[in-house]
Amino acid sequence: MDELIKKLSEAAQSAAKNSHSPFSNYPVGAAVVSESGKIYKGCNVESSSYGLSVCAERNALAAAIVDGARDFKALVIYSKNGATPCGACRQVIWDICGPIPVYSIDKNDNVTKYNSQKLLPEPFGANKLE
Ligand code: THU
Repeated sequence: MDELIKKLSEAAQSAAKNSHSPFSNYPVGAAVVSESGKIYKGCNVESSSYGLSVCAERNALAAAIVDGARDFKALVIYSKNGATPCGACRQVIWDICGPIPVYSIDKNDNVTKYNSQKLLPEPFGANKLE
């Protein structure tokens, strides 16, 4: 595994350990790396009002945005069985990151590489708001 992806995958796995997922019991961690090489982590945070739950990917991106990061190189998602991003996250990944590789890792270190364009065909985007 590429050294950067390994680091991201360790970060995503450690984030998943902090997951607040008492309703689904499905911990997820995510890590995104900025162009400067800084890594930001997120985990899923669930609410008793289920729809208010926020996925690991969006929390990682929010952490990066709060820190002032704007350009991103790659995103890694960790879950026990290799989750792919939900529809809402696909939109937000596209909006914030544009075309980037998205890796999914499972508990046995199996890595599947996707990319944000293919995950969201014919996207709505900022260009439509110009
Ligand atoms: N979840 C994520 O955090 N990321 C994904 O890629 C898939 C789903 C979360 C949402 C919810 O807290 C739990 O996993 C089950 O859907």
